[in-house]
Amino acid sequence: MVSAEGYSETVMEEYYSPYGMEKLFGPDGYAKVRGACGDTMEVFLKLDEVQRVHMGFLSDGCIATVACGSMLSKMVRDRTVEEVLNMTEEDLISALGGLPDDHRHCATLTLDTMFKALLDLMTRNEHIRTT
Ligand code: FES
Repeated sequence: MVSAEGYSETVMEEYYSPYGMEKLFGPDGYAKVRGACGDTMEVFLKLDEVQRVHMGFLSDGCIATVACGSMLSKMVRDRTVEEVLNMTEEDLISALGGLPDDHRHCATLTLDTMFKALLDLMTRNEHIRTT
């Protein structure tokens, strides 16, 4: 089933019950990006004791952006830095059951912000190696 705006059922579920929509205090990596549409995505990344990544996010963006933040928080959870580095926009859009063409940029904004936070995390934790 698809909403009147063209969103998949998964997008609507993530929007109404977002996972990880919270500020993580004392993040190991942080970024805030304003997209071309004027909406903002903020990503907080933390490493646990076994170097697995956890993500929180805040956004004033649209339904698609909140759904992207929620799904990406689930995808990132308990992954290594290297695994997170290999995630793509298509992985995210496909996990959401697709996005309308005029909202694909919301996935771009979410992923770009997460990668910027990951770069911040790697800069602060130079001992982390990727192959
Ligand atoms: Fe601005 Fe989705 S992030 S329209």
